[in-house]
Amino acid sequence: MASLTIRKLDEGVKTYLRLRSAKNHRSVEEEVRVILRELIEGREEPLTPFSAPPAPSTAPTPQRTGAVPEASVTLIIGGGIAAYKSLDLIRRLKERRIEVRCVLTKAAQQFVTPLAVSALSHERVYTDLFDPQSEFDAGHIRLARDCDLIVVAPATADLMAKMANGHADDLASAILLATNRKVLLAPAMNPLMWTNAATRRNVTQLQRDGVVLIGPNSGEMAETGEAGVGRMSEAIEIASAAERLLRPPVPKPLAGKRVLITAGPTHEPIDPVRYIANRSSGKQGFAIAAAAQAAGAEVILVSGPVDLDDPTGVTVKHVESARQMLEQVQAALPADIAIFAAAVADWRVANEGEQKLKKTSAGMPPLQLVENPDILATIAKLTDKRPPLVIGFAAETEHLIDNAKSKLARKGCDWIVANDVSPATGVMGGDRNTVHLISRKNGEKDGEIAVDSWPVMTKEQVAIELVAHVAKSVSGKSVEPAS
Ligand code: C5P
Repeated sequence: MASLTIRKLDEGVKTYLRLRSAKNHRSVEEEVRVILRELIEGREEPLTPFSAPPAPSTAPTPQRTGAVPEASVTLIIGGGIAAYKSLDLIRRLKERRIEVRCVLTKAAQQFVTPLAVSALSHERVYTDLFDPQSEFDAGHIRLARDCDLIVVAPATADLMAKMANGHADDLASAILLATNRKVLLAPAMNPLMWTNAATRRNVTQLQRDGVVLIGPNSGEMAETGEAGVGRMSEAIEIASAAERLLRPPVPKPLAGKRVLITAGPTHEPIDPVRYIANRSSGKQGFAIAAAAQAAGAEVILVSGPVDLDDPTGVTVKHVESARQMLEQVQAALPADIAIFAAAVADWRVANEGEQKLKKTSAGMPPLQLVENPDILATIAKLTDKRPPLVIGFAAETEHLIDNAKSKLARKGCDWIVANDVSPATGVMGGDRNTVHLISRKNGEKDGEIAVDSWPVMTKEQVAIELVAHVAKSVSGKSVEPAS
């Protein structure tokens, strides 16, 4: 049995099918197929369309290859010789993880067959406004709205004229009138039709209505000896234009900037097996590195020992001690922005044991401590390679704002991100942070100190917020790239 038509469905069943198919992003026909398959396999869903999806079955179900689609397009294929390129367009869209449901106008069927389109899209093809199979549940409305974008390729002069004037006498024009989605047109027609005053008026009207056009390109026409503007854009160009509309490029406010970040604790050796450390997890510094990278910056992260994966797209230098961290920081200069989020140990052992220290009857061996270099202060006080924006952190357990304000002056940095790390806050090693951004008003060296207190946020949110402040502050100022 090749197909099954069921008539006289009662309203309740129709409503159920309509809701369930919309929920599962399938056509009603496909949904019925799934229901029948599930019945045969003995695992039908309960009769509530918005209930939880059924538990995975071990029974074999037909699988589609490739990743799960992230977006869907209704592709209207108009009647023109360029319709053959739409077959390639279906593939180009699908390889970008875009699901494609196709509508063929009557004229389009003279150039490509519904069978070929259906085979490539893996979906049924829609051709008629008055199709009892899909129209009992207002199929043209679903095709108009159960998608993220409508692409018309080829968009013929006739289809564009209908669209510009609000006609709806066939499935394609009805969808275009009923949609509330963005529409992308890929016009294709004879050069004289394209330059005709009527088409010019229609194009202007469509652009005013917010419709986006790709092409047409210039070149040879199908008609012998004719050339000019009117060739439909190539499938790859249309697919890229569709992708830009579906996934607009993320702004990169730190593009071209080099950001240096320190993170994590340092380990200061006592002997070959023991060290002095602190509870820093490195999460905040790593989150800042990821946020700066996402904002388009070139990021160098100098990290002490942490249990975190290196952020994607970031150059990570792994170090142990404060002195190694300083070395890597100096090697990474110049930078446009330096953010010192590491919890650097203030002290190290002067008389580090070459061998493991032994217990003696004389008691604990004396540990002499010497001060570590202050990486933040060293870099902030450079005269030649000082990054234009130097940011320090102040992790305090008391007098947070006062201590942070004096640190701003003492260390010579531009901003201090102050956070309360007393054990009750759970900030050390935790996922949330409450910070105060301490800076000088108008960025003046001796300007009045301003305190901007942020609400409790995840460390990722703090990172994104900080990067947004950085981007605003440094826009337009850039250092020479590193040699
Ligand atoms: O003095 P305190 O350790 O509280 O200063 C914190 C700030 O100074 C942080 O930005 C930290 O990364 C930085 N720092 C540093 N080198 C040190 C000590 C702190 O870079 N030796």
